[in-house]
Amino acid sequence: MSRTLLVTGGNRGIGLAIVKGLAQTQEDTILLGCRNLDQGNKLANEIGSNVNAVELDLSNQEVLKKNIESIQSQYSIDVLVNNAGVLDSGNLLEVSFEGILNSTQINTLAPIQLIQAFAPKMIEKGYGRIVNISSGWGSFGEGLTGPFAYSTSKAFLNGVTKSGAQSLPANVKMNSMCPGWVRTDMGGPDATLSPEEGAETAIWLSNLPEEGPTGKFFRAKEEISW
Ligand SMILES: NC(=O)c1ccc[n+]([C@@H]2O[C@H](COP(=O)([O-])OP(=O)(O)OC[C@H]3O[C@@H](n4cnc5c(N)ncnc54)[C@H](OP(=O)(O)O)[C@@H]3O)[C@@H](O)[C@H]2O)c1
Repeated sequence: MSRTLLVTGGNRGIGLAIVKGLAQTQEDTILLGCRNLDQGNKLANEIGSNVNAVELDLSNQEVLKKNIESIQSQYSIDVLVNNAGVLDSGNLLEVSFEGILNSTQINTLAPIQLIQAFAPKMIEKGYGRIVNISSGWGSFGEGLTGPFAYSTSKAFLNGVTKSGAQSLPANVKMNSMCPGWVRTDMGGPDATLSPEEGAETAIWLSNLPEEGPTGKFFRAKEEISW
């Protein structure tokens, strides 16, 4: 079966590595979600003929709604990778309220909006995979030790996975994952993993077989604690 896979924040970092990895399967169409369509088109052309750039700005509900409608007019999404994310720094007392709203919008509310938009068609078709790129900093089990807005928005995203997967049929799977500490603009130059290594678990979850897991949290393809 040839599939259409959408990766948010596909223009750099882990998202770009996910797009490149998924594009190895020639019969699939990969949609590189990005805010700057000129940059996205250039990247898509470089990667391969099965990659197309689509405009996807997660900053605001109305703009995202228009972006989603434009995608739906051209494509039927089988796999959604919620990768785009931001890291607002500071603890509860330091971070601005705007920073909390921004993190929650991009890291959690926009993924929910995308899931609500694309999951019904997956259910209708009897096939779907949703991958929510979270973080160990969003794990209660690991102590929620990251910056406040980041940790809480990723914990919320994990809640979306755990609670939301229960509303989906078994053939539409939704999982969370932590990519590890990855050398990107967000992770910085000292991080231990390359973007390609950080993308591996997301690619694996995008390609889960019928008997694969749903409603779980992974790192390096191993289940981890919420
Ligand atoms: N790097 C790590 O060590 C690490 C660890 C754990 C989890 N993660 C998670 O992995 C994911 C990817 O991180 P990364 O390290 O690749 O980050 P990155 O290099 O900073 O890239 C972030 C991506 O998100 C996009 N983005 C940000 N705000 C957006 C918005 N309002 N609308 C649409 N796209 C937006 C960016 O697009 P623009 O270019 O347009 O800004 C970019 O494509 C994130 O969810 C992050 O939380 C990363």
